[in-house]
Amino acid sequence: MNLKTTEIRRMAEDDVGQVVHMIHSTMREAWGNVYSPDLVKQFCFKYTPESMIERMREIDYWVAEVGDGSVVGVIGLKGNQLRTFFVELQYQGKGVGRKLYDMLEATASERGLEKLVLEGSPWGQPIYKAFGFKQVGSRVKRRSGVNYDDALMEKQLIERG
Ligand SMILES: CC(C)(COP(=O)(O)OP(=O)(O)OC[C@H]1O[C@@H](n2cnc3c(N)ncnc32)[C@H](O)[C@@H]1OP(=O)(O)O)[C@@H](O)C(=O)NCCC(=O)NCCS
Repeated sequence: MNLKTTEIRRMAEDDVGQVVHMIHSTMREAWGNVYSPDLVKQFCFKYTPESMIERMREIDYWVAEVGDGSVVGVIGLKGNQLRTFFVELQYQGKGVGRKLYDMLEATASERGLEKLVLEGSPWGQPIYKAFGFKQVGSRVKRRSGVNYDDALMEKQLIERG
């Protein structure tokens, strides 16, 4: 698998079908053993081609495209929030997420944002720590009658004071 040619570019409406498919399969594979099947289904319902097109109005998305034209990763920036960060399982751990994140942070810096914030699952924390985020709190969420914890994390881009 040659990832040298991985291109990070803005997501287009034509990518939405592939991106939604990739998010669903990544959620099932990454979260299937942690959350109940019902909760994973609920997470998948959040991402449909229609909802992604709607989200594109207020969220800037970038995708990672590999040599054969497949889209294997996505990341989003809404204001100063990092959103919707997924890399297809077989491409994880190879630097694709880092490339997507670096594009997002460079854009945030160009826009003069002081910090980036996110709500991440507990097992996303080590990766976000590798990107320089610190946990600043946690939030209990409820979906489909099930409670689950998300970590509130942030990364200062411009030092205060
Ligand atoms: C989170 C995710 C998008 C990261 O993408 P990726 O392509 O696997 O990430 P990379 O290989 O580029 O690694 C990024 C950094 O995280 C670090 N990292 C990766 N896995 C890690 C782990 N389990 N523990 C600690 N650090 C880790 C890497 O060392 C790398 O740091 P570096 O660039 O300083 O060397 C991907 O793993 C994923 O889709 N996971 C499932 C969905 C998910 O949980 N999304 C987050 C929502 S909370």
